Amino acid sequence: MDIWHVRGGNRLFGSCRVQGSKNASLPLLAASMVFPARSVIRNVPRLRDVDAAVAILSHLGCRVEAEEGELYIDARSVTGAEIPHALMAEMRSSVIFMGALLARCGEARLSLPGGCQLGKRPIDLHLSALRAMGAEISQEGSNIFCRAAKLHGAEIELRFPSVGATENAMLAACAAEGRTTIRGAAREPEIVSLQQYLASLGVHITGAGGDTIVICGASPRESTDFTVPSDRIVASTLACACAAAGGRIILTGADPEHFLTVLHFLNEAGCDIIHFNDIVEISSNGELHAPKRIVTAPYPGFPTDAQPILMAALLRAQGTTHITETIFENRFRQVSELRRLGTDIRVEGTEARLRGVKELHGETLTAPDLRGGAAMIVAGLTARGETRVIDAGHITRGYESFDDRLCALGAEVWIEHKGKGTYENAIEQDQSAAGKQARRV
Ligand code: EPZ
Repeated sequence: MDIWHVRGGNRLFGSCRVQGSKNASLPLLAASMVFPARSVIRNVPRLRDVDAAVAILSHLGCRVEAEEGELYIDARSVTGAEIPHALMAEMRSSVIFMGALLARCGEARLSLPGGCQLGKRPIDLHLSALRAMGAEISQEGSNIFCRAAKLHGAEIELRFPSVGATENAMLAACAAEGRTTIRGAAREPEIVSLQQYLASLGVHITGAGGDTIVICGASPRESTDFTVPSDRIVASTLACACAAAGGRIILTGADPEHFLTVLHFLNEAGCDIIHFNDIVEISSNGELHAPKRIVTAPYPGFPTDAQPILMAALLRAQGTTHITETIFENRFRQVSELRRLGTDIRVEGTEARLRGVKELHGETLTAPDLRGGAAMIVAGLTARGETRVIDAGHITRGYESFDDRLCALGAEVWIEHKGKGTYENAIEQDQSAAGKQARRV
């Protein structure tokens, strides 16, 4: 268990290179085992979720070597089609190995995936896409068994543009005989990079970025060399951090097209934004105006992953913002914790009403999930005094050296690594500090 400490009040200045994308890297790692080929994947962020995907690849018999943000994967030696529960439980993305295993081995034995508790997160769309291609799937408790002597092309219509279901269907379709059409596909940049990677391995695939993807088999190649695009949610987080704390930062290696909706709201809130090629400059005087309404939506709409983070940036903004969450049932888990900083947020179902307050004061908070944890760090940058975030490892699932990056920009952030019982210790320390303060008053 880690405790992140943030001392608020510093403005952020300087430049920061945006890490490679977590959500692009994970499907690429699953895709790397679809063919008996070798892949060099560059710009892979060092994250717990990436480690979990590498552990799955190694368990399945692939040889994986890591070197300075590069992964060398040799998938010629796949030996198994079963992923143990302990590995599946590490993250949500492990479910994408289902399509990859079906394509490569004709079977997959795994269990329901773990990941952030953002709502029900069913996998019905994944299963129906794979069934449409001829897979027989049965479930016993949390165990899933998939088998397909031969996958065949299919017309797949997704009732919602699920990112994971689109990725699973793309991977299984690589081995299907004939043409597979995925309609209602997710359009996220991660889907585009998955298409580019598969094409570099010889898959005949078109359409990613639009709502219809067509896959017509493959002429497999022996190897590929691919670079992961930059992480649009990390870029959004750094931009929100600067907006809230004030200052001027330059993000390099970013793709502004991928987080334009976030930049749009920061601009509406009063930040100056300039972007050119892969550079984005954000300037803020720290005095933000509340945008009236923010609604999350599948790409190219405003990303649900940036919702808790933009909310954190707007806690002191002048005015009221209404936020509607349309993707996950449970994505306001940060709110009850953020309230402890002195915020004014009311949630009813999928709607949050945020009224900016003049001042926030540091407190001890518990990170509920990855983006909720990042939101608390952003909030802490603008709070008076010290904010402590008790984090069961969520933040490092998605942010590489986040503390160092923020410190390099002038923030005061440090991590205390603690063993078991830390939560109780922190709460105790907090209560005794609150007691002392009360006595002083
Ligand atoms: C991906 O999750 C991302 N994860 C999430 O990133 C992101 O929040 C999400 O897409 C939405 O943008 C990765 O890419 C690894 P979905 P995924 O399937 O694929 C419902 C982060 O913080 N649904 O598009 O799991 C589902 O319940 C995270 O980095 C079904 O009903 O998301 C949800 O309401 C966490 N049936 C909605 O669709 C299904 O079979 C979107 O889910 C599948 C999904």
